Amino acid sequence: MQYYENIKLGITIFMFEIDLKNNLSKPELYEEILLFLKGITTDEKDALAILANTASLLFFGLPEVNWAGFYRANRKELVLGPFQGKPACIRIPYGQGVCGTAFAEKKSQVISDVNAFTGHIACDKASKSEIVLPVVLQGTVMAVLDIDSPVINRFDEDDLQGLSKIAGYLGKILDQQNAFWSLP
Ligand code: SME
Repeated sequence: MQYYENIKLGITIFMFEIDLKNNLSKPELYEEILLFLKGITTDEKDALAILANTASLLFFGLPEVNWAGFYRANRKELVLGPFQGKPACIRIPYGQGVCGTAFAEKKSQVISDVNAFTGHIACDKASKSEIVLPVVLQGTVMAVLDIDSPVINRFDEDDLQGLSKIAGYLGKILDQQNAFWSLP
């Protein structure tokens, strides 16, 4: 992954290029993604911008992924946040679907076959497996990170470890007072 800064027509243009040609192991890839994420979010407090860039980084940085993004939590449900992929359902009640289960149990969900998960909410019929991690801020689930794959059994322990570090980092940097979290 490389980060370029170009000056064109007097305007500073930032371009992020994700290069997956090198054969990184999964842990190395997640390490790179986290480093990259830290690089682009240092000193940034705007939650919407941070989550939008994270969704893009994961969608374009990870192989075999057809949806990557966030649902934000209020007391009773999840509300769609920044994502990359096909349009998705906007509200998911607490405890429902894979996302609502991660929210209610405050626990990551690794689903090798979404069709075998009772209550799975299908947003893209191409999705075959899914991983959902809670983003916890001061003990409260503020959002869930959701990634879908068109490949069955796509996510393993390495994905869980790598994404847990990313979700953990997000939980640390997101500002609870940010107006972004005032959900209707
Ligand atoms: N499959 C999720 C719904 C969200 S989409 O995958 C984007 C679920 O069961 O909660």
